[in-house]
Amino acid sequence: MIFRGYDNLMVAARQGSPLAIGYGDGEMYVGSDAIALAPFTDRISYLEDGDWAVITREGIAVRDRAGAAVERPIARSLAAGLVVDKGNYRHFMAKEIHEQPEVVGHTLAHYLDLANYRVDLPALPFDFASVTRLSLSACGTAFYACLVAKYWFERWAKLPVDIDIASEFRYRETTMAPGGAALFVSQSGETADTLASLRYCREQHQHVLSIVNVQESSIARESDGVLPTLGGPEIGVASTKAFTCQLTVLACLAIAAGKARGVIGPELEAELVKALVEVPRHMATMLRDETPYETLAHSLSKARDVLYLGRGSSYPIALEGALKLKEISYIHAEGYAAGELKHGPIALIDEEVPVIVIAPRDDLFDKTVSNMQEVAARDGKIILVSDADPASTGCEVQTMLPVPTVHPFVTPLVYAVPVQLIAYHTAVFMGTDVDQPRNLAKSVTVE
Ligand code: AGP
Repeated sequence: MIFRGYDNLMVAARQGSPLAIGYGDGEMYVGSDAIALAPFTDRISYLEDGDWAVITREGIAVRDRAGAAVERPIARSLAAGLVVDKGNYRHFMAKEIHEQPEVVGHTLAHYLDLANYRVDLPALPFDFASVTRLSLSACGTAFYACLVAKYWFERWAKLPVDIDIASEFRYRETTMAPGGAALFVSQSGETADTLASLRYCREQHQHVLSIVNVQESSIARESDGVLPTLGGPEIGVASTKAFTCQLTVLACLAIAAGKARGVIGPELEAELVKALVEVPRHMATMLRDETPYETLAHSLSKARDVLYLGRGSSYPIALEGALKLKEISYIHAEGYAAGELKHGPIALIDEEVPVIVIAPRDDLFDKTVSNMQEVAARDGKIILVSDADPASTGCEVQTMLPVPTVHPFVTPLVYAVPVQLIAYHTAVFMGTDVDQPRNLAKSVTVE
């Protein structure tokens, strides 16, 4: 709040949405977060819920909900030094898709001992050796990263995972054994439902670990441990590089969990780490030629409904692909587990419905091919995202989007790129506001 006639006074209060205080030279700032204040200062403090502050050029007086004077620590923000512009790209989303080989590489280097092909994580707030279950919760794309992680923790670490979208988890009032482990994933670190779920877990005496892209965020500050994604500021509302950086951290965490639980030995650890180390190169390969995606956009833009299918750890990538398409092109799209086709969605299939099949040649490939054949038999238009030869499927494939052959462990990371490009080029062709799609905010800080 500012007051006419009092040009050396601001009053600020925080409840729910984050509020940052910027400390300049003879100037003070109030803003939503460190990135907003980055052009003015890198000295930032954050008000907590219920805080209110009287601010003048000379300084600030903060009081908490009870009216008691409090001090909120001032930190050097990392955001100030980061360049936040589109560079040579038409949209932030395009730039951020193309930054993925670099930022995934940075994130890998942070959590791996590359010389010895080992994971090298900081101390965690819990010991995976004594954890019996892991609870994961997030929203939107971050939730799909958690869904991929469920496959990884259960397959490679033999650790059961409970997972739920945060807006449901926060109200389910589930009973949690004290001393359990809860993991939250959030690009902004300010998503209201995720923060509320985190607070519920603290009340349930869980050890809380979070994976965030903004290290000074509310979720980070309220966690027992934080594993940052080193994605740099993500400006496009549609999350891309943050998603693959989240997957990167989660993959390293799953390997660490498997080691701690005695189910991943040095050889398997080296195999999985080597597969991760190759990911940036595979991503870069896929980003060399976007022509097939530009061509596909013309036909996809005419679709009323689009179906994405995937099995195993490709199922969350089908969900993510559908979310990307609908949120920036406004075309209705739905992701489905391919095995569910017969249980209803197959009724949707006709020559008007593009079906995008995420199908790496893994141990579920043949099952997915049989689903493709069901689609083809009903004249569905198949767009195949795979490292397989389309002829091997025995189906008519309208569009083939080739992917390099990679270790099954890392397919979600590599297959995220084609679904991002499908959405991006379709939205560009349709002329929507790619970086700031209608009705959406980059961080949903209210319920
Ligand atoms: C992703 O493309 C969406 N913009 C949205 O679903 C987002 O992932 C979700 O709101 C969660 O945001 P967070 O990662 O900042 O918590």
